[in-house]
Amino acid sequence: MIKELLNKLFGNKKASPAMTQSETISHKENNTMTTYTIFGRGNMGTAIAGVLTKGGATVEHIGSADSDIATINGDVVILAVPYPAVESIIASHKDALAGKTVIDITNPLNFETFDSLVVPVGSSATAEIQAQLPTSRVLKAFNTNFAATLATGKVGDITTTVLVAGDDEDAKNALITDVNAGGLDALDAGSLKRAHELEAVGFLQLTLAGSEKIGWTGGFGLVK
Ligand SMILES: NC(=O)c1ccc[n+]([C@@H]2O[C@H](COP(=O)([O-])OP(=O)(O)OC[C@H]3O[C@@H](n4cnc5c(N)ncnc54)[C@H](OP(=O)(O)O)[C@@H]3O)[C@@H](O)[C@H]2O)c1
Repeated sequence: MIKELLNKLFGNKKASPAMTQSETISHKENNTMTTYTIFGRGNMGTAIAGVLTKGGATVEHIGSADSDIATINGDVVILAVPYPAVESIIASHKDALAGKTVIDITNPLNFETFDSLVVPVGSSATAEIQAQLPTSRVLKAFNTNFAATLATGKVGDITTTVLVAGDDEDAKNALITDVNAGGLDALDAGSLKRAHELEAVGFLQLTLAGSEKIGWTGGFGLVK
């Protein structure tokens, strides 16, 4: 029964809901350090770079000024830009992104109404990106974390947890390992389909902060 439920949640691949600290450390020791290319030097691009470099990864940034012409050197690409900017990045770098892990952190809000997402109902920004990059391993991550909680490593008194969704187990585990190495918790939240729920959580958290019911240094924390 539990196995069936796990298969439903995580697909028929081996489920890996979370890696223990010792598993992540030995995983790290067996791998060379990852190089990340982060599109965006804003709040999130900077905070994510801080976590990953703390864990020993190498990070390069591509800003909006050189976005169309820059060369992507990283093994893993993070789209730390507003959702509308993703389209032009894909248009300029489709070939370079093929086969790579691409991490979508966006909350695709309708900023005119602040009342809905701009992706098709039932879908997600991540699913839309995966459809445009069929050979890439597209993950959703970081969208449920405010930048400040990535920088401090804390939401209130508890350690910040990065939720990761996607269909490629190796890509998810590699990111979880690197986030853990940077001192944060990270959890496999399931398949690419779960990006829809992660975007709903990110949306809700944004509306709470936007209406000043919570602060931008707060937000949802996870207790296991
Ligand atoms: N802030 C948060 O706490 C938070 C939390 C969860 C998720 N997110 C998501 O994270 C993403 C980034 O948010 P943010 O808060 O970091 O925004 P931000 O501080 O405004 O930074 C966005 C960055 O993206 C750059 N950019 C825009 N178009 C680009 C392009 N085509 N190529 C390269 N860089 C480009 C901008 O550069 P220029 O300034 O030169 O235009 C800017 O540096 C958004 O999708 C947001 O929904 C944010």
